[in-house]
Amino acid sequence: MSWTKNQTMNSKIIGTGSYLPENIMTNVDLEKIVETTDEWIRERTGIEQRHIVADGQTTSDLAYKASMQALEMARVKAEDLDLIIVATTTPDKIFPSTATILQQKLGNNGSPSFDIQAVCTGFIYALSVADQFIKTGMVKKVLVVGAESMSRITNWKDRDTCVLFGDGAGAVVLEASNEEGILSTHIHADGKYEELLHVPSGISKVAQTDDIAERTMNMKGNEVFRVAVNTLSKIATETLEYNNKAKEDLDWLVPHQANLRIIKATAKKLNLGENKTVITVNKHANTSSASVPLALDEAVRGGRIIPGQLLLLEAFGGGFTWGSALVRF
Ligand code: UT7
Repeated sequence: MSWTKNQTMNSKIIGTGSYLPENIMTNVDLEKIVETTDEWIRERTGIEQRHIVADGQTTSDLAYKASMQALEMARVKAEDLDLIIVATTTPDKIFPSTATILQQKLGNNGSPSFDIQAVCTGFIYALSVADQFIKTGMVKKVLVVGAESMSRITNWKDRDTCVLFGDGAGAVVLEASNEEGILSTHIHADGKYEELLHVPSGISKVAQTDDIAERTMNMKGNEVFRVAVNTLSKIATETLEYNNKAKEDLDWLVPHQANLRIIKATAKKLNLGENKTVITVNKHANTSSASVPLALDEAVRGGRIIPGQLLLLEAFGGGFTWGSALVRF
């Protein structure tokens, strides 16, 4: 492939990977902790189980395992990566970034590495940023990771939220290519929704009491649900129209895995059946920024998503933030 700095290149996904921690917590396990039932969780969310990090296991540990798989599939050595981006809401430390901790574990020295914080939309944001770097000719090989230890910011006494989240990581390797790859990305935010889904305190906003609820996720679930369904269908239309594509052109919807009912509502608006929608939420619950790459990797490794197919990736999360990517795989 001939390549010059000023030539516009496409970002091609050449490897995917994922990792879920070994510890599994089922809905029945949760029945012992809060007033809930396996039936309620399955019916309202589609979730059957979630994976939970072990004591001492960190977000960068999960990111590392997913990244190694993606690098192996891509046949790219970590030292040859030009850029590492980690999307996470649950970093190992306040600083340095989880991306630089991951970089150290991978044995890459000198390439720019940074985190992106867009909660559940983080992976799509990171993909969008990586795509701009490739398109402008700044870099040729990028590792994009979504990794989360949501259990660390979960209030295990709050049944409204604790049944919904899990831990995990997913990764992709992108390479500059003359072939079609990421056709477009679309990212949005509206900060007026801050308090519908948030952790009320952090670093500069100090918790005022010892109440665990101040340091863990708070969500007004059904309000989030309503906005998510409307917004995701709008962004699907925006993405298809921008690319002059019809719903029928899509081979797969690879959605954020938060709630099966939201996924099915989006798929229905796109006239996509379950045979064209990647669903993994049952196995790992909402892993925030890890959920899209986790779903993508499962469908790729399972042989369902194959080269040449057209994929719509989408996500919605705290902020609110939302985004999509249309990808020729
Ligand atoms: O990734 C970021 C984006 N996040 C999301 O997309 C999540 C969006 N929201 C949702 O997925 C859903 O709104 C939930 C799954 C959180 C809730 O489902 P819902 O159908 O909206 O239920 P609801 O909040 O309207 O609550 C229905 C009932 C309530 O009881 P009453 O008031 O009707 O008596 C809740 O107290 O279900 C009750 N409830 C529970 N019952 C058993 C809430 N949580 C539980 C629980 N187990 N864990």
